[in-house]
Amino acid sequence: MKLGLIGLGRIGAFHAETLAALDTVDELVVTDAVPAVTERVADRVGATPAGSPADVLAAGVDGVLVAAPTALHAELTLAGVDAGVPVFCEKPLAPTPAEAERVAAAVTAAGVPVQVGFPRRFDPAFRAARAAVEKGELGKLRTVRSTTLDPAPPPASYLAGSGGIFHDCAVHDFDAVRWVTGREVVEVYATGSLGGGDPDAFAAAGDVDTAATMLTFDDGTLGLVSNTRFNGRGYDVRLEVHGVADSVAAGLDDGLPLRNTHPGATFPAGPPHTFFMDRLATAFRAELAAFVDVVAGRAAVPCTVDDAVAVAWIAEAATRSLHTGRPVRIAEIREPATVGD
Ligand SMILES: NC(=O)c1ccc[n+]([C@@H]2O[C@H](COP(=O)([O-])OP(=O)(O)OC[C@H]3O[C@@H](n4cnc5c(N)ncnc54)[C@H](O)[C@@H]3O)[C@@H](O)[C@H]2O)c1
Repeated sequence: MKLGLIGLGRIGAFHAETLAALDTVDELVVTDAVPAVTERVADRVGATPAGSPADVLAAGVDGVLVAAPTALHAELTLAGVDAGVPVFCEKPLAPTPAEAERVAAAVTAAGVPVQVGFPRRFDPAFRAARAAVEKGELGKLRTVRSTTLDPAPPPASYLAGSGGIFHDCAVHDFDAVRWVTGREVVEVYATGSLGGGDPDAFAAAGDVDTAATMLTFDDGTLGLVSNTRFNGRGYDVRLEVHGVADSVAAGLDDGLPLRNTHPGATFPAGPPHTFFMDRLATAFRAELAAFVDVVAGRAAVPCTVDDAVAVAWIAEAATRSLHTGRPVRIAEIREPATVGD
């Protein structure tokens, strides 16, 4: 199988190594806007360098991965779809939910498989939590809590194009709670603040460095999502699901970045996770292996454009709630798109 990869920054360079190590991938064609980066990554992983995204598609790839900045996801995904090539697009599918709706409608009309990158769906503990809910082991769900705490913010240049903490970071929590519970969010109430570090980088992007979001699901289950860009002890990704019969938690491994103040406690043994790529390395690899199965026609898309659209509206509702100080219902803001919009 011949795959293409567009964008070789933090996540793209990591994906290049994963893809180059897969037995099923015979050739990897890579490109970045910075030619020296293309050459460096191609050399390191034994890939074929290409001059542009168009050159990647012209190389006759069987599938293409988009890990370029968020602003380019829609355009590059649709370029792959127009070429009839299965696409893996890093989250988010597009900078705004309305644009994501438009891309999703075009993808569905074209019938070309597109997978969106939400790696928690491939984390063994998150999968086990979902299986427990699906089997009914928790009974009727009452609460779900999801957390993503970054030890340090991304660069200011990244923040400016990120869409804000809800679209960029909390969106992973929104996808996880929706996927694990199997329920839809109907209402969102969010707040946020600045104060972890230099506030100017965030304020310039109209963003906050810390956020809390309350979710109401269609069956009355309540969700709490918390996020910060300044969690000094490490990278914390956790999920709890509580039902009338039982409760489960994902993310309680020895790398959990919490100092347990219970006297005599030896858990977590450490060292704490410090970066998303070390906490989720296994999940990222499984996610790309799943995409290879999609390209080979062996599996259905595990995280669809419709999933990406649903969580984009949750993130948008949270953003609007932050700015207006009131709860926002998804139904009051969601605008469906039709092909040709
Ligand atoms: N799923 C996840 O957990 C996860 C994690 C990190 C990033 N992401 C997403 O991945 C995307 C990239 O994030 P990042 O942290 O790697 O950003 P980054 O800024 O480190 O890398 C982006 C790269 O894309 C290149 N680029 C810019 N324009 C290009 C073009 N026209 N063609 C080819 N390459 C181009 C840049 O030169 C850069 O090397 C973002 O949309 C982000 O939301 C997802």
